[in-house]
Order: sequence, then structure tokens, then C-alpha cells
Amino acid sequence: PSPFRRCATLSNTFVTETSELADIEWDNLGFAFLSTDYMYVMKCAQGENFSKGELQRFGNIELSPSAGVLNYGQGLFEGMKAYRKQDGNILLFRPEENALRMRLGAERMCMPSPSVEQFVDAVKATVLANKRWVPPPGKGSLYIRPLLMGSGAVLGLAPAPEYTFLIYVSPVGNYFKEGVAPINLIVEHELHRATPGGTGGVKTIGNYAAVLKAQSAAKAKGYSDVLYLDCVHKRYLEEVSSCNIFVVKDNIISTPEIKGTILPGITRKSIIDVARSEGFQVEERQVAVDELLDADEVFCTGTAVVVSPVGSITYHGKRVSYGEGGFGAVSEKLYSVLTRLQMGLIQDKMDWTVEL
Ligand code: COI
Repeated sequence: PSPFRRCATLSNTFVTETSELADIEWDNLGFAFLSTDYMYVMKCAQGENFSKGELQRFGNIELSPSAGVLNYGQGLFEGMKAYRKQDGNILLFRPEENALRMRLGAERMCMPSPSVEQFVDAVKATVLANKRWVPPPGKGSLYIRPLLMGSGAVLGLAPAPEYTFLIYVSPVGNYFKEGVAPINLIVEHELHRATPGGTGGVKTIGNYAAVLKAQSAAKAKGYSDVLYLDCVHKRYLEEVSSCNIFVVKDNIISTPEIKGTILPGITRKSIIDVARSEGFQVEERQVAVDELLDADEVFCTGTAVVVSPVGSITYHGKRVSYGEGGFGAVSEKLYSVLTRLQMGLIQDKMDWTVEL
């Protein structure tokens, strides 16, 4: 019999290896790209709606040098994770939230976007086609990266004439090299990530290019990442390059409010709900940088970073430390509830997980 199995997909057929797990070293996954078997591709012309996509063998894509995304940064991405349960089934976490966020971002960036149903169906098809790359329970997750880009050629500044929605996946472990040990942040007081009226509140690719300079400088000095301040007052916390920030004081959890310059993280939103359901008071408000001085705990949230405890923050040369080298009690509790829910280890009373 053939080692391959034919599967029906949204629009065509493809073959997938029958082996249960890819033959890689599962114990030491970090957050680095590993190519997998399939990617999902769907295109549409400007002014039209996405209608038909397909799974393709993973590989390079062809773009005109004049593509809108290459010349004018017309692009968005999403980040999601799939976990393998003990029974072998796969769990997605709130995929419709990523679909909705991509739709909001697409509106800001003048792009058409897949419907929520198209997005979620495409994610499911891509994960199932790459099932052998979903790490065994406890070894990590399959990171899912949906992209939306202006792929048509433009020369004068204008929305591209054609768009490509693409999903690829890669197995991952911890995001920071520290693993789940606390990270050390430095507050950036010259460069800014986002401006009022800009695109900081959507997941456009340029937001991430814009932080590389400060992030590289911070890493060269031994810090894990950069914490940004608002560009108007240079006083209120915004976010870290790749994640949202939370501050705990006397069991009250505070996080910068969403006001256009902060990425509305799905992990952020989920942690707020988990914290409230665990009886904590959560405040979404302006959080002043001085509040870091007497905070009990600080932690970051994001799809890639999950919940990462912050061990120290340096601001204008002054270093404040938190905890004793591990999670604080509050962040540990929230991390534990969220990750057990995402991995299917506790009952999902929130109805957030989608089982494949
Ligand atoms: C994610 O957490 O999924 C992100 O999109 C952040 C990225 C820089 C890894």
C-alpha cells in the first residue's frame, strides 16, 4: 500500500505522510523556524472577496519585485498555537479571535481579508495537513503563522491590485532563550513603537521592523527585550516588542488600556478573563512607568511568549528586580490555568478551545 493517504481539503486533494510524528529532536525546541509539509494559499483581486484557497507543498513563493508588501509594507500577520492532547487530538485556541483581528487590521491597511469562517477553516486544514509536526504533549506547540499581503505589483503609492492570504506552521518551544525563567527588560526612552493615529493597534508587519533597532541594542547589552513607553508623555507603559505587559501590586493586576497604539493581544484578553474568573481585580488603564518601582510582580503575555515572568526592568540606568528567580504567585497561577486550558488538561469552561 502507498505510504501516503489522500485527504479531501477545502478545494482540492493532497497527500500527507501517515507517520504519527515527524522525525526530529522534540526535547529542545526553541522559537526558530523549521519547515513543515504544507502551507495554505488563497488569492484575490482588489475589490473582490477571497473565495477559493488550497493547500500546497510548503515552499518559496513568487512575488513581483513591485509587490505592494515589498515596496510599501502592505502586510499583516497573525500568531496562533496548536497543542497535541494526550489522546492525540489537536487543540486550537480562540482561532476566530485571530480571524477577527486580521479583519480589523485589513480594514486599516486597505486590504480585503478572509471571512472568519474562511480563516478558521484554512487554519484547521493547514494544521491537519501538518499534524505530524504538532509536538507531543508537554514538548511544545505548533506555531501557526497566517499572513495577509498585497502581492500584486504597484509602483505609485496605492493599495496593491492583488492579495495573498497564506498560512505556514512551525513546531516551537519557549520563545525566550531564558525558557520559562524570568526575562530582563530595558525601558526604551528615545525610540517608540507606535504613535496615536498610527498602526500600533493592528498586527502590521512594519510594527515589528520598527522595534528591531532598539531590540538589537538591548540584546547586545544582555537584556531579553525592550519595554516601550507612549510617545506623547514618554511616561506610560505600552508593550514589549513582541508581547503585552502586566503589573501586579497588592493582588491588583493592571495592564495598559487598548487605545490604538497597543496590540490587542488575544493572550492579553484571555489572561484578563482568567484573572477575573480567579477572583483578581484587573484594571485596564494608563500604567505609569514609576509604578514599576514598587510592583510586586511584572509579567508579559503573548501567543509566542505565553505568560513570561519579568525578573528585572532597567529604566535610565536604574534596575528594579522582582521575585526570586521564578514566577510570582499571581503570574504562576494565571500561567498554569491558561496553559492547562490550552493543552486540554482542565475543563474548558470558557469554550475557547477548538478540537481537531
Ligand atoms: C505572537 O506572539 O504570536 C506574535 O505574533 C509575536 C511575534 C513577534 C512572535
